[in-house]
Amino acid sequence: MTRFDPSDPLRGSLRPPSDKSVSHRAALIAAMGEGTTPISGYLDAADTRSTLGAVEAVGARVEGAEPGRIGAELKVHGVGLRGAGPATIDVGNAGTLLRLLPGWLAGQEGESWLLDGDDSIRRRPVDRIAAPLREMGARISCREERLPPLEIEGAPLRGIAYEMPIASAQVKSCLLFAGLLAEGETRVIEPAPSRDHTERMLAAAGVEVRREDAEGKASAGGGTVVVRPAGRLEPGPLRVPADISSAAFFVVAATLLVGSEAVLLDVGVNPTRTGLLDILERMGASVEVEERREEGGEPIATLRVRAAELRGTEVGGAEVPRAIDELPLVALAACFAEGTTTIRDAAELRRKESDRIETVSAALNALGGRVEPTADGIAVEGTGGLRGGAIDSHGDHRIAMLGAVAGLASREGVEVRGMDAAAVSYPGFEADLAALLS
Ligand code: S3P
Repeated sequence: MTRFDPSDPLRGSLRPPSDKSVSHRAALIAAMGEGTTPISGYLDAADTRSTLGAVEAVGARVEGAEPGRIGAELKVHGVGLRGAGPATIDVGNAGTLLRLLPGWLAGQEGESWLLDGDDSIRRRPVDRIAAPLREMGARISCREERLPPLEIEGAPLRGIAYEMPIASAQVKSCLLFAGLLAEGETRVIEPAPSRDHTERMLAAAGVEVRREDAEGKASAGGGTVVVRPAGRLEPGPLRVPADISSAAFFVVAATLLVGSEAVLLDVGVNPTRTGLLDILERMGASVEVEERREEGGEPIATLRVRAAELRGTEVGGAEVPRAIDELPLVALAACFAEGTTTIRDAAELRRKESDRIETVSAALNALGGRVEPTADGIAVEGTGGLRGGAIDSHGDHRIAMLGAVAGLASREGVEVRGMDAAAVSYPGFEADLAALLS
């Protein structure tokens, strides 16, 4: 058990850890690339180490990844788009790796791979990628037709048009990778825009990838992503910004703790990821986005967060994929708000590292919240605060860190069972939190 007591305000500045989504993609695309790709700011966490292990297993060489030392600069010597060797791959707890990697492997004829991971991974559905990949001609088998382990036998692929039933950046990215090795164009139709890091990175590596609206015109917003087969990838140097999903814990903590002013540096503010900022703004929070600029193909900024009183809001529709990993924090903030907050259209939360509709509701209710899980979301009656108590992370990194923030803002403190889960995305979380509290 790790205890988080009611605390003083958050003060000062820090750079949160690097982006998990961007890091996974950087390692995979560098491995697909020709020659050596330098990656600066690669995330040193359990999930992204799994991805380095995976690219090494298929033959890429990684330099600069000694334990505890990655981050500054990593070099990946790629195997090329068609050069992945056969392997048994342990994806650990990394759902993104589990969903993205098969897209690259499925089109490499004459080779085969086995992907497996921890207990939580074995409960994460893979039929969402297996079904469209099979439509493209892939040979994939999985347990009970929908769960890992996953076996892939390389086969010739053809481009398809696939309408995703849910907005999933993991499924989209998997199919875009498969499209690089397929015959003809691959089109992925999104019900709402999901994170577009893959598209940005592939385009920078020389791939023909574009977004079209419903009429087939080039578009910056929603619609269809189209990728053409590629001969080779030349990624060039890659850079990973700080993760807005990790910064989010401090954004909410500083909002809730009276007298706080926290500054978060180098944060990725790709508009497909900033739903939390829009939601908090509606709730009355004070988050200033300063020094906006673009680096390494991604928009980044400094976030200045001051404490504020919150009111309830409604969350649903296209905002959900833009805030999917931050919705647990929205529910936490809502407990401290005045009025009701309703999160809808978020059934996907049930398929994350834990069933987050249930784990978040159970955790917040255990701390004195008035929270109701619904089929596709969470309803919260704000009472202006939380008493405190004990919660279980269920091995889910984001629930562990949510418990810590709840503790600081609670009246009596919170004990978190399974705080070590935070290392999946944020190994230095407790130290960084302490730094902002001292
Ligand atoms: C991710 C996409 C999201 C998100 C996950 C990371 C990614 O999942 O929840 O933490 O890197 O593509 P879905 O695309 O399945 O919604």
